Amino acid sequence: MSGRQRVFSGVQPTGNPHLGNYLGAIRNWVEIQSQFDNFFCVVDLHAITVSHKPETLAKDTYAIAAIYLACGIDLSHSTIFVQSHVPAHSELTWLLNCITPLNWLEDMIQFKEKALKQGENVGVGLLDYPVLMASDILLYQADKVPVGEDQKQHLELTRDIVNRFNHQFAKPNQPILKLPEPLIGKEGARVMSLTDGTKKMSKSDPSELSRINLLDSPDEIAKKIKRCKTDPIRGLEFDNPERPESNNLLTLYMLLSGKTKEEVANECQDMGWGQFKPLLTQTVIEALTPIQEKYQAVMNDKGYLESVLRDGKQKAEAIANQTLAQVKAAMGYSMPL
Ligand code: TYM
Repeated sequence: MSGRQRVFSGVQPTGNPHLGNYLGAIRNWVEIQSQFDNFFCVVDLHAITVSHKPETLAKDTYAIAAIYLACGIDLSHSTIFVQSHVPAHSELTWLLNCITPLNWLEDMIQFKEKALKQGENVGVGLLDYPVLMASDILLYQADKVPVGEDQKQHLELTRDIVNRFNHQFAKPNQPILKLPEPLIGKEGARVMSLTDGTKKMSKSDPSELSRINLLDSPDEIAKKIKRCKTDPIRGLEFDNPERPESNNLLTLYMLLSGKTKEEVANECQDMGWGQFKPLLTQTVIEALTPIQEKYQAVMNDKGYLESVLRDGKQKAEAIANQTLAQVKAAMGYSMPL
């Protein structure tokens, strides 16, 4: 694995992972993993930046790790681990907090959106979320970070933090932290809600009908697609800004069927919604069934999952602690005796 560029990414164990998480992130990880040395993290410290249930956090964390395996993350190329198992994430966050200007964080779109939803009770953790995310990436000196489009601004902030840190604490031309690059797919980087094609599909949307979860049953999938928003026009098309639902559902069909954009455009140009919806339903069910079967098998073998996460922690920690030691030395800390 040595000599390969490093990839880092993660998913939060909050709510059910959905088609946006899969098509915007996890599926791309699977596709590129053989070219890189990969670290895929279950970011459970991020999960408590909004109110959470202690009684389900551990189970949800395991479930995301099992989803990674079920979607095809291959342990011969990739390391899977849990963020809170590697204390260096929290420690680097503190160090980077002290060099990050407050107004950089106040400018983050996701913070503003989530803070608006929470009203008076905005926790400091929500504001600090992007610094923790930067720490995740920087501890592994990651070259590439495959994410959905909504994370682009957080990646830009991460790069700003790198430049600021290196400028303040590293010798010229000997950077301590590496500048990571986002990897954002052309298609699927922004999967939209089923109930409103202008809004992102999101775990926090109060309506279950707005998203297809990776673990939804065939009946649930059929029901959600049956009820999803459409328009009164016959014939489906991509890229018409007046028809966001048509573009979104065709994109889902394209990505999950493995057909090209041209094939899908030709196939569906004269179709009515009544003909397209069953076709999409069938395609989604066929794509998700093998993932669900593998997920069940992994979840039924807790010992295996624990061994994956224990190995992951060890591999992650070895690298993370090295970076943390370099950062602390550069900032002038004495090393522990
Ligand atoms: P999370 O759990 O909210 O999302 C996980 C991944 O799914 C992508 N995503 C989408 N992609 C396309 N369409 C959508 N509707 C959609 N919704 C979500 C997200 O872009 C993300 O790639 N902050 C991260 C977690 C994180 C992280 C990191 C990622 C923490 N530390 C370090 C990369 C590197 C997040 O959004 O999680």
